[in-house]
Amino acid sequence: MLALGAVVVASSTLRLESGFKSTREQDLASKTDSVSRSVSATDGSSWAQLTIGVWHDQAVDEGTDDLLHPLLASRWSPTTFDPSARVSPAEVESLLEAARWAPSAGNSQPWAFIVGRRGEPEHGRLVRHLTKSSAVWAPTAGVLIGNLLHRFVQDTDWDYSEFSNYDLGQAVAHMSFQAQSLGLYVRQFRAFDRDALAAEFDVPPHWEGTTMSAIGRVSPQARRSTSAVEPWQARQRRSPTDIRWPQASTAERR
Ligand SMILES: Cc1cc2nc3c(=O)[nH]c(=O)nc-3n(C[C@H](O)[C@H](O)[C@H](O)COP(=O)(O)O)c2cc1C
Repeated sequence: MLALGAVVVASSTLRLESGFKSTREQDLASKTDSVSRSVSATDGSSWAQLTIGVWHDQAVDEGTDDLLHPLLASRWSPTTFDPSARVSPAEVESLLEAARWAPSAGNSQPWAFIVGRRGEPEHGRLVRHLTKSSAVWAPTAGVLIGNLLHRFVQDTDWDYSEFSNYDLGQAVAHMSFQAQSLGLYVRQFRAFDRDALAAEFDVPPHWEGTTMSAIGRVSPQARRSTSAVEPWQARQRRSPTDIRWPQASTAERR
């Protein structure tokens, strides 16, 4: 039994409350870990029950997962999808729903998605435009999604919204966490031919195919081999201190 903490921000101080409880079970037969976490409020009421099928050993730096919600702690971007696993139409609907309800500047909702589940014609049409690097792994995911951005007002070079990029990123982030809650993993990527994708799906010039997401299940065996792929897949992060902008006044800093 592991005790996790809920981070509560109160008047610029961080307070830890023990509220999350998690159990981690190891299935020795299949050599997979499964994590079941019941997330309860400090008044004792339980508000979420999660069972995360696969626990990734590299998911977070040693010791950091105590500060994170289990969905965030278990998220990572695989290149090793289980090629036999499917993503159902209902799961796709749930992913799109998460994006649909993301916040956006002025509620402008500057996003649209091209969905291709493996085995469907749209999947083949998306796969055709992957670059060499992503073509190695992305087609094995259960679904590929093209993330489109409403960039300009039609027939002008005026930004549709100052925050379009920001908002699309946030919608995809929401989709990622919804995926995680369904036991699916997401790798977002830029490695595809934007112009070719636009031509393939009649994306007009005021829209842009910004990124793609490969979404699927990960087999434990494949999961274990990820560390050998590329050094940047070691998932190192800048330190907590480094990401805080220095707040001392200019005079104090001198
Ligand atoms: C906008 C964006 C573009 C990315 N492009 C690629 C890509 O072209 N190829 C790739 O393998 N991974 C790509 N990634 C995945 C990142 O490399 C990955 O998120 C990062 O290494 C951190 O790892 P983590 O997501 O497991 O924490 C991209 C991610 C984002 C958000």
